[in-house]
Amino acid sequence: MSRPEKGSEVEVVIDSLAFGGRGVARIDDFVLFVDRALPGDRVRARVTKLKRRFGEGYATELLEAGPSRVTAPCPHFGTCGGCRLQALDYAEQATWKAQQVRDSLERIGHQHAFAMDEIAAATETLGYRNKLEFSFASTPDGPTIGFHRAGRWDEITPIGGCLLMGAAADSARAVVQEWARRTGVAVWDRRAGTGYLRHLIVRASDRTGQLLLTLVTFSGALPEVGWLEAELRERCPGVVGVLHAVTDGSGEATAGLPSSLVFGRDWYEERLLGLKLRVSSGAFLQTNTAMCERLYEIAIEEAHLSGDEVVWDLYSGIGSIALALAAAAGRVIGVELLEEAVERARENADLNGIGNVEFVVGDVAKALRPLIEDGLPSPDVVVVDPPRAGLTPKAVRRVIELAPSRIVYVSCNPTTLAGNAELLVEAGYRLERVRPVDMFPHTHHVECVARFELVESA
Ligand SMILES: C[S@@+](CC[C@H](N)C(=O)[O-])C[C@H]1O[C@@H](n2cnc3c(N)ncnc32)[C@H](O)[C@@H]1O
Repeated sequence: MSRPEKGSEVEVVIDSLAFGGRGVARIDDFVLFVDRALPGDRVRARVTKLKRRFGEGYATELLEAGPSRVTAPCPHFGTCGGCRLQALDYAEQATWKAQQVRDSLERIGHQHAFAMDEIAAATETLGYRNKLEFSFASTPDGPTIGFHRAGRWDEITPIGGCLLMGAAADSARAVVQEWARRTGVAVWDRRAGTGYLRHLIVRASDRTGQLLLTLVTFSGALPEVGWLEAELRERCPGVVGVLHAVTDGSGEATAGLPSSLVFGRDWYEERLLGLKLRVSSGAFLQTNTAMCERLYEIAIEEAHLSGDEVVWDLYSGIGSIALALAAAAGRVIGVELLEEAVERARENADLNGIGNVEFVVGDVAKALRPLIEDGLPSPDVVVVDPPRAGLTPKAVRRVIELAPSRIVYVSCNPTTLAGNAELLVEAGYRLERVRPVDMFPHTHHVECVARFELVESA
């Protein structure tokens, strides 16, 4: 095996795309993960990390472009940390993502007997996002709104606009940037830990035309809010509310911060599969609305409901999956950790006149046993839609105890789905079918729906 030296440069041909978006090259048995390289490329790569059987590096020069390379549509491609796959033909992106789902289930989950569908490719490859999280950068022109520079936690690259989101979001971004420059307040300096302006979160619905903005700052009152409100109302009439969230921490996290309303209201409305959904600023909602509909349609198909079943929707967020499948089920019970999301879910049920759903606040790993002891009916079907980390082993055990005859697993991370799949199969479930969905063109993220059937009780 030819193992290159750390710090050396090697010439390699990329033969595949790893989960995470890096190119994979092989030097005999040695595997090199190469940043900024795509399948079919011949590149010169600098080796930055070495382990016994694999290494990591990045392409310093593209010697010959692979057959699926295209011109990235965004002028910020390469410097901006988002959209790493923009220079790969979209059909290829989708094919590699499906392959990564299969590989994860086979290599990590040791599953080989499942049926797998072709990936449901995204209907739109640009302008598909309903949420973007920008960061403030300090430039000679004053505060500027941008994204993290590729590979850097401490540098923000200013952008003139993001092709992943619509024009309304972009005008709101421009007004906020103008406001920031008027106020003269300092931008948060990530290295020094000083300054005030940190992030702008824009959530928007193309379907209702509504936008909700959240400004994240260091502590202290927002200056010139009168100007901001007047300009947004005048130039961005779709903005239904602005929130101010505060963090004095050194990290970049924006979730779960204390926030107050600057003006308007703290939710916007989205439409999904005929449902009206009120979405609060901090609540989870899939960020590609059109493909979220496809994902839920697939989840509902895989639930194979006849109309009488009790369905438990675990990790239910603001209730979107539970509400979308309520018409096909007898009774639906949603379990969600965040109280605020559960309140929104209940409100959404009322708003849509759906009476056979109920939502409970609780941690899936702790709440399921007490719910059964309290007399809630055991589920025929369980839908799980956990965060990226998947189900903890304890949560898997609690789901298995419920003994549903079918589990529909909506996953945003095939590697954690794979680990959970192995545990479910060991407990008597069979992985029947996996259906990948591409919600996030140009990024490495891939979603999928996996159906497990109970073949024997543990
Ligand atoms: C991927 S989101 C899915 C939300 C919803 N199913 C949807 O489609 O919009 C995951 C949700 O799980 C919730 N969550 C995270 N950890 C949890 C836990 N231990 N127990 C219950 N819910 C949890 C999060 O607050 C979030 O709303």
